[in-house]
Amino acid sequence: MLSDNLKTLLASTEVFSLKSRNFHWNIEGSNFPQYHAFYDALYNESYETVDNIAEYIRVLGAYAPASLTRYAELSVIGDQTKIPRAELMFAESLQDCEKMIELVVAIFDVATAERQQGIANYMAELQDFYGKKSWMIRSILKKDRE
Ligand SMILES: [Fe+2]
Repeated sequence: MLSDNLKTLLASTEVFSLKSRNFHWNIEGSNFPQYHAFYDALYNESYETVDNIAEYIRVLGAYAPASLTRYAELSVIGDQTKIPRAELMFAESLQDCEKMIELVVAIFDVATAERQQGIANYMAELQDFYGKKSWMIRSILKKDRE
């Protein structure tokens, strides 16, 4: 059911945003100012999508989950309780962005099949968003040319 898929997306986005905030606060290294700012944007921009997703769930007549217990049950993004070093934070965020892309692409197909074009359109926007962030993170992780 489309609303169930969106609940998974809502929970996954909450965990993704929270993890971005963890990394924003706790990242360390000589590029700290850029890394800190990158994760600030990742947190804010992903968190902005949470309300839109929740409202689409309501539009479909279901209730939007809003509890940490439900988010932990539903999220496809794993929680991070530790403080990894910078390179590992970026590697983890890249994997998470790829999981988010997989999820929104799958939901796009369900929304299209149910002729929910507005939701499909929003999934396409989210695919772009996570795709751009993946490109940026891959660029951060690339070793300098000699
Ligand atoms: Fe901050």
